[in-house]
Amino acid sequence: MGNEMNVLFLLIINVVMVLSASGSTPDDNYISVVGDPGMRRDGLRVAFEAWNFCNEVGQEAPHTGSPRAADCFDLKGSSLKHKVTKEDNKLGVGTPFSGLNPENANNVDLYAAQKEIYLGSLCEVRDTPKPWQFWMVMLKNGNFDTNSGLCPADGKRVRPFKSTRFPCFGKGCMNQPTFKHDETELYGESMRGGFNGTYDLDSEPANGLDGISFYEVVWEKKVGVGSWVFNHKLKTSKKYPWLMLYLRADATQGYSGGYHYDTRGMLKTLPESPNFKVRLSLDIKKGGGPKSQFYLIDIGSCWKNNGLACDGEVVTDVTRYTEMIINPDTPAWCSPTGLQNCPPYHITPQNIKIYRNDTARFPYSAYHYYCAPGNAQHLEQPVSLCDPYSNPQAQEIIQLLPHPIWGDYGYPTKKGQGWVGDPRTWELDVGGLSSRLYYYQDPGTTPARRIWSSIDVGTEIYISDKDEVAEWSLSDFDVLLTTPKF
Ligand SMILES: *[C@@H]1O[C@H](CO)[C@@H](O)[C@H](O)[C@H]1NC(C)=O
Ligand SMILES: *[C@@H]1O[C@H](CO)[C@@H](O)[C@H](O)[C@H]1NC(C)=O
Repeated sequence: MGNEMNVLFLLIINVVMVLSASGSTPDDNYISVVGDPGMRRDGLRVAFEAWNFCNEVGQEAPHTGSPRAADCFDLKGSSLKHKVTKEDNKLGVGTPFSGLNPENANNVDLYAAQKEIYLGSLCEVRDTPKPWQFWMVMLKNGNFDTNSGLCPADGKRVRPFKSTRFPCFGKGCMNQPTFKHDETELYGESMRGGFNGTYDLDSEPANGLDGISFYEVVWEKKVGVGSWVFNHKLKTSKKYPWLMLYLRADATQGYSGGYHYDTRGMLKTLPESPNFKVRLSLDIKKGGGPKSQFYLIDIGSCWKNNGLACDGEVVTDVTRYTEMIINPDTPAWCSPTGLQNCPPYHITPQNIKIYRNDTARFPYSAYHYYCAPGNAQHLEQPVSLCDPYSNPQAQEIIQLLPHPIWGDYGYPTKKGQGWVGDPRTWELDVGGLSSRLYYYQDPGTTPARRIWSSIDVGTEIYISDKDEVAEWSLSDFDVLLTTPKF
């Protein structure tokens, strides 16, 4: 009896050891919450969305349809069975599709939100605890025509106004881009596909990119081996000096960061601070110039200033973004003489609170910029308010820089880490870090649950004065709950 128990025990130990040795990641004891852990599934699911300055459509580009598209397929033997047709991707305002509420058929913003859900229904993969739909490529044009009346201020409708604060070359500067799609195909042992286009509607990128804006995402993978690699390219131009391109793992339902419509995505379970990590490989080939705010992870969510979850009421909902910027050219605007750009306090991994007026101990150079929601009633002074127009609702943004104090969470500790020429695989304790950051809340209210509905990587080239190009590859993306499986 005793010996049998020992043998059984050894056998179990062996099985456990073999299981952990055969896995390709050190995280086999953790549960992945993305539909396609590590981007390894041959049958890819990827979608595209383009946003104007306040995360809407505003106006469709001519002959392009609503700026939502997808490339989803299963690999059957030696062929790809596509789930989304060219006609689906071309759908534009006014054209009906299955599930479209006729009341939304002629509103470009609502139409796009519903097209995303329709594409999601075509791409959906059954899974536990929930089905999932796709990775999301998100592209955003930072031009804002204040005469257009298109964007609310902290969620409140405002009249058109005159301002030179925002880039805009004139009427039509908030346009949507062209969209070309190479549907994924098999090339021997590899699969490859991509999306690309430009905001300069009269130009043809195939004839050269001089003087024009451009975006491109090309994905490729060897059948049955490793991860998909997503190769990104983003170029600004004089007319479009502020552009953003991200690959996002969004919630499969509800609101995702900055999007106030029902969304579709990859996160089957939403990760909650402090118990999750993000694993990914990043190879930056071109940085995109000094204004390129490259986010080695941006996490987005939404909760109200009283700590309650968002419900779509844009005057009280607040988008919360937390971003680590790894461009070594990005300065810390937070400083002993720039306290309005710092959060009120920093919390160390040992849970010690350091106020920003404690000049001997506060890690100023770890914070690029903090801005508070414009609808907050009890802010500590001095404070910088976030831009009221660039989201459908108020927002709060915490932007971090590489610094030794983030080392405990696996984030870059020195400027230049993970930057051009330093490709790395990161395992970031995003949950741990985000559990110890300051977010505004009304006094006396129950702290918000920090549940994240969007996790993404990419760059925001923030108003460059010359044409800039960023190029990078992302692979192995995974989000892991750090609650042991057994
Ligand atoms: C963009 O995509 C099109 C087809 O989808 C392709 O022919 C072209 O080479 C790509 N790149 C540029 C710079 O246009
Ligand atoms: C520093 O800030 C904290 C919090 O706002 C405040 O309570 C404290 O009095 C300040 N200390 C100094 C020396 O100004």
